[in-house]
Amino acid sequence: MPERFMDPILANAIIRATEAAAIAAFDLAGRGDEQQADQAAVDAMREALNQIPMQGRIVIGEGERDEAPMLYIGEEVGTGDGPEIDIALDPLEGTTLTAKCMPNALSVLAIAPRGGMLHSPDVYMDKIAVGPGYEPGLVTLDQSPSENVLALAKAKGVAPEEVSVCILDRPRHEKIIESCRSVGARVVLITDGDIAGVINTTDKATGIDMYIGQGGAPEGVLAASAMKCIGGQMEGRLFFRNEDEKARAARAGIKDFGRIYKLDEMVSLPTVFCATGVTRGGLLDGVIRKDGRVETETLIMTSYDGATRRVRTSRPL
Ligand code: FBP
Repeated sequence: MPERFMDPILANAIIRATEAAAIAAFDLAGRGDEQQADQAAVDAMREALNQIPMQGRIVIGEGERDEAPMLYIGEEVGTGDGPEIDIALDPLEGTTLTAKCMPNALSVLAIAPRGGMLHSPDVYMDKIAVGPGYEPGLVTLDQSPSENVLALAKAKGVAPEEVSVCILDRPRHEKIIESCRSVGARVVLITDGDIAGVINTTDKATGIDMYIGQGGAPEGVLAASAMKCIGGQMEGRLFFRNEDEKARAARAGIKDFGRIYKLDEMVSLPTVFCATGVTRGGLLDGVIRKDGRVETETLIMTSYDGATRRVRTSRPL
């Protein structure tokens, strides 16, 4: 593992990038314009990333070069000196949440040494995750949702009625929801934001035991970075809606389209995960402007030592 990757200066610097993006997005929260809020977050994050002494390369970003003018996949960011870093980012996770000023929007970024993260195209991913402390492979995409609920209930030593499963509220998830409920599990539906949905499985205080469902593949890799730091389990399988999406995956180097990726295959090298709250939520407080200052809360986690830190920053406007 490259020594400099563990440089605390780097971890500190990426906090500034998610903070800047969160503040910029929050200024547009509740104004009904998803695109504008996303663009503000992208601009602010890019500017902050370009001040970091690193040879950064975006592996998961705003899209392919022809569709995203900034923070596109393959774009190089940073000053050009320092360690070679791969970056996965989502400057605004929860564009709709932000436009409607609803809870739980985040600005998210993960880094790893070059080659340390799955180069996932912007397609969907089937995901399953549970928190730490269970035998490896306890839950898997190879089993039905109800089988996973029963396996988890047994491992926890509780009735299936005491298992809570977080799922994105989408018509495509009807069967998954039905399967979980058929064995008695409690289904916690969220409107958006499955990175937080996955992370919540690691904190008993949330009451969420498992995350299941299909969401963005980029969000899947970002969530995998978080889980690698905290120590939970996660699997992901890319889902393609058409041949164009398969072609994108092929361009990103994906060969086996049906493969189930384990956590360590999605993020194979030491990683740092960082998220700043945009709107107030269960995982993080949102941006607060008061008395001529702006406050943010950021969660920063490092896999090489398993540390989790919450950083509250207050700065003059
Ligand atoms: P955006 O911020 O890009 O809108 O993503 C929000 C989100 O809810 C993700 O957390 C999730 O992975 C994805 O959208 C699900 O996609 P869809 O809205 O198409 O079901």
